[in-house]
Amino acid sequence: MEIIQEQIVSMPRIGDEAPKFKAITTQGDMSFPSDFTGEWVILFSHPADFTPVCTSEFMTFAHLENKFTKANCKLVGLSIDGLYSHIAWLRTIKEKIEFKGMKNIEVKFPLIEDITMEVAKKYGMIQPGESKTQAVRAVFFIDPKGIIRAIIYYPLSLGRNFDEIYRALIAMQTSDKFSVATPADWNPGDDVIISPAASCGIAEERMTSTEGLKCEDWFFCTKQLDKEMILSELLKN
Ligand code: BEZ
Repeated sequence: MEIIQEQIVSMPRIGDEAPKFKAITTQGDMSFPSDFTGEWVILFSHPADFTPVCTSEFMTFAHLENKFTKANCKLVGLSIDGLYSHIAWLRTIKEKIEFKGMKNIEVKFPLIEDITMEVAKKYGMIQPGESKTQAVRAVFFIDPKGIIRAIIYYPLSLGRNFDEIYRALIAMQTSDKFSVATPADWNPGDDVIISPAASCGIAEERMTSTEGLKCEDWFFCTKQLDKEMILSELLKN
């Protein structure tokens, strides 16, 4: 009994290897994360098929899928429902549902069947204080080496913000590519943060040399990073 409880609350962390699993999905069998080596993946869970908040989220993700693909990022959904329920729900979305001007939306990314909760438990998507049977709205950002780079959790009642999900992906890719950090509310075109001075000498240099840097103080220096350059490096045509 204790072991089951431990599994339910196990939570992968930022920096961990993404837990491995094999699954059946609406797009066929999947081995995770090996099927996605070399690509970013957003693995996200939702409470149940045929529910309104989840429907609005699936339509939004499907509508934005090309944008994520251009950023070398695949989408993978999960809920604790069976394959036939998933198929019926996705067909209903396409045939009947209109949301914020989106209609006739075909969900082409895979939706994992997880009726046994095996994957949901591995990824800490079951949070018993919220629900013992439905996954919360988790979002795992997994990098091309299969490492978890960011995690966002939302409760059952709260639909996700997709601008933030995309912004976080591009910000992490920018950090990787240009060895910088990104400040509050950063978007491409805003100044980026360079790593804090790690010695007294560098701290002094930062305050005396103005070359390309804007330093508020020795530990808080920013520089410009051209938006077009970022986008041309990160996005496929
Ligand atoms: C929904 O997706 O609409 C939903 C699911 C579970 C609880 C509350 C809302």
